Amino acid sequence: MDAVFQLGQHVLIYGERGVGKTSLANLLNDSLRSLEKWNYQVVRLNCDATANFVTIWQGVFRELFFLRNLHSGDTGENLTAAVRSKVSFPEDGTAEDVRFLLKQLGSPAIIIIDEFDRIEDPSTATLFADTIKSLSDHAVDATLIIVGVADSIDELIAEHASIERALVQIQVPRMLESELAEIVERGFLHAKLSIDKDAVVQIAALSRGLPHNAHELGMFTGHAALDDGRLIAVCADVESAIRRSLKSARQTLVSSYLKAISSPHPNIYKEILLAAALCPTDELGYFTAGDLRAPLLAIKKKKYGIDAYMRHLKQFCSEGRGAVLESRGERRRYRFRFSDSLFEPYVIMRGVDEKLVSEDDVLCLQSRPVERFLMPVK
Ligand SMILES: Nc1ncnc2c1ncn2[C@@H]1O[C@H](COP(=O)(O)OP(=O)(O)OP(=O)(O)O)[C@@H](O)[C@H]1O
Ligand SMILES: [Mg+2]
Repeated sequence: MDAVFQLGQHVLIYGERGVGKTSLANLLNDSLRSLEKWNYQVVRLNCDATANFVTIWQGVFRELFFLRNLHSGDTGENLTAAVRSKVSFPEDGTAEDVRFLLKQLGSPAIIIIDEFDRIEDPSTATLFADTIKSLSDHAVDATLIIVGVADSIDELIAEHASIERALVQIQVPRMLESELAEIVERGFLHAKLSIDKDAVVQIAALSRGLPHNAHELGMFTGHAALDDGRLIAVCADVESAIRRSLKSARQTLVSSYLKAISSPHPNIYKEILLAAALCPTDELGYFTAGDLRAPLLAIKKKKYGIDAYMRHLKQFCSEGRGAVLESRGERRRYRFRFSDSLFEPYVIMRGVDEKLVSEDDVLCLQSRPVERFLMPVK
């Protein structure tokens, strides 16, 4: 909101897949409405692999209007009454054209460009950096909000040094277990159901900081309780929710899992993958090989040295095993993480469902205990 109200400031929202970036950007609309700022035009556009600078701005301008005779207090109806005319963006449009057209709009604009990481065209990021610089230098009353999956701003906007001061950078982290617990409790409250604290704690631990999983497990837990004729959900319902969630999992998750663990010979791929999913991670989702020791001990009830499973971890990074992990760093200092963050809770749920690990162990292995944050049960 600060960026929106300051001329020359633009926003970059980035983070892992599924952490809530789009939802955060979408909140802007509500916030503007609650502040009664009716005169803003808000456009949201999703990029795909084929998008480039021109197609994006053509898409944006398709939804924008030049407005005349508009006053800041005008509401929806008056807006339509204002003189509106369509804007079109030329085939060979440049950053300067964007600036020129946005300046003529007659109202402030907020332009949310989501899934920016999916664009394959190499020149688009540079052209967007030029656009931000131009909008900022000319104090145009428009805010560009770029949203995408990335660890850092350089992955989304190349050559950003010259626009650093014009960019508010918002890294969306994974959620705390207390926040995931809140999602579940609010959902139950809304549905006029109750849920045991232990069950909330379990769902929060299984979700690995990802709100989608907390929503889904919470919902299936509620369904399980209702199917059993109860208005209070308990831990046994979470077990049932895990089975329901595994059944409805995306086919890509299932096939990646099978590819990662398959082998004609007796092996411990499944256990190593599960241990990796249970590792504590840094804020970018990375863990080290040493981090697997504790979860592996809980799963196999036996101590393993790093040498016993380093080979497995490297193979999980290869195409042959679905490249379910990716690594960074040098030899002996490798750090690993899941290529698709949503795969992590899936692996844990499979492990719990197949009784490779107990739900208590999953809880113990989580770094941030949640009980003290729970809302009082109604
Ligand atoms: N603050 C929140 N409270 C409750 N639920 C949330 C919150 N933020 C996001 N969610 C839920 O989490 C799920 C993922 O959110 P969202 O799509 O915003 O993430 P994303 O980071 O944009 O994902 P992607 O990287 O796949 O684009 C959605 O189901 C959304 O409703
Ligand atoms: Mg999104």
